[in-house]
Amino acid sequence: MTTRFVPPHPPRGPAPVPVWRGFFGERARNAVYGWSAPMFENWHIRRNILGIVVHVVTHPDAVQRVLQANAANYAKPDIVKRVIAPMIGRGLLSSDGELWREQRRIVAANFAPPAVDALVPDFARAATARMAAWGDGGVRDMAAESTATTMSVIADTLFGGDPRLKTDAAMAHIAAALKAAAEARLSAVLRLPPLGWNPTMRAGQRGQAFLRSTLAELVEERPGRSDGDFLDRLIFALHDRFGEEEAAALALDNAATFYLAGHETTANALTWTIYLLSEQPDLQDQAAEEARSALSVGDEAGLIEELPLLRRILEESMRLYPPVPRFDRQALSLDTLAGASISPGDIVSIWPWIIHRHKKLWDDADAFDADRFLPERKAALHRFQYVPFGGGPRVCVGARFATSEALTILAHWLAAWRFERVHARPVRVIGTVTLRPEGGLPLRLSRR
Ligand code: HEM
Repeated sequence: MTTRFVPPHPPRGPAPVPVWRGFFGERARNAVYGWSAPMFENWHIRRNILGIVVHVVTHPDAVQRVLQANAANYAKPDIVKRVIAPMIGRGLLSSDGELWREQRRIVAANFAPPAVDALVPDFARAATARMAAWGDGGVRDMAAESTATTMSVIADTLFGGDPRLKTDAAMAHIAAALKAAAEARLSAVLRLPPLGWNPTMRAGQRGQAFLRSTLAELVEERPGRSDGDFLDRLIFALHDRFGEEEAAALALDNAATFYLAGHETTANALTWTIYLLSEQPDLQDQAAEEARSALSVGDEAGLIEELPLLRRILEESMRLYPPVPRFDRQALSLDTLAGASISPGDIVSIWPWIIHRHKKLWDDADAFDADRFLPERKAALHRFQYVPFGGGPRVCVGARFATSEALTILAHWLAAWRFERVHARPVRVIGTVTLRPEGGLPLRLSRR
């Protein structure tokens, strides 16, 4: 019998707040702040944001229609492309149609189960290398530790371990670029010039410039080979299928895409899982015991299968704190979703943050309960009521990579260390492109 634990969430008012409030204060800064209680009970809300019609749909059937059944009618929105183009251009995440399909074909094999399973030793190496610096423990920011670790994993597994991608400066630049991307979205809605009108934006601009110039150097140094690392093979395949100039541009765009999408999200999944365990010491002990016994077998390749409790905890963590709290589409032609009429050009916004806490989809929706993901209960869920990785043809290509990586790192850390709360103040969740605890996650570490 475990005690009921409800992690704090932003306050919810009784009625939807007016659209203009979204342009100021906390609501402008924090994507998950200011949602009203009815949002977590209704299936659709339509908002007109300065002429842009946005539908937030939360019914799993509607989500399934957008992402899968009628996916061809929904493209990545122009406004999102404009905002993220300076960072990731027209790479896999931000392209559509034939250009998307061709790029997805090129990278797919790298993320197929055998390829990912072969990386478990790399994930373990990054986890243990990081803990080696923890000495006798003490207080550490586990959000920063998680980011440094996943950054090193992505550099090692996709980019030949290039040291330029693993520095503290790189970490700070990326955090600044993501923070600014959320504000840039707002300025795009307001039709303001894209960047550079306040300190956050300027730091973001420097972050973007760092990201693009560092990755451009890397890409230019590589001739492209069919038998090298991920980046070599990517460059080779792109030159095989696209003209010289196009291939060079897409190589840089995808290097940026995979570097960013490949580490920031997983870092957040790790951070929130460790937070939830720090608040539930008994459950943490059970997970640590499972991890110890799984690691004692010494079978690195089979490790993931030996962690059913930890997997459920990770799944529940990504339900309560989906690392990507929202993603969007733009309708190409007329459609109907959750009884609402969708016109061409309308934005359809999918919010894992809301769907995962919807009162009609989950019992005691805001409470932590890893048993929701016990096999028989998981089988009863609608496939599209739990979408941390999206769904349909554009489901996260790195979903298996991320899950194996997170489980491996957590197993190594939990088996060796205990993580305890330091502050009495409750954690505050802040949503930009991803979902982080504001001010990091300082925890007290002690050896087990
Ligand atoms: C816990 C970790 C992760 C989460 C929660 C996550 C979440 C997502 C989501 C929600 C999407 C779909 C977005 C949409 O439909 O608009 C997506 C797409 C994508 N993710 Fe992930 N992701 C994670 C880890 C990774 C990793 C490790 C990689 C690469 C190594 C990666 C690379 C990508 C790419 C390239 C796409 C675009 C796929 C496409 O459009 O075909 N992600 N991710």
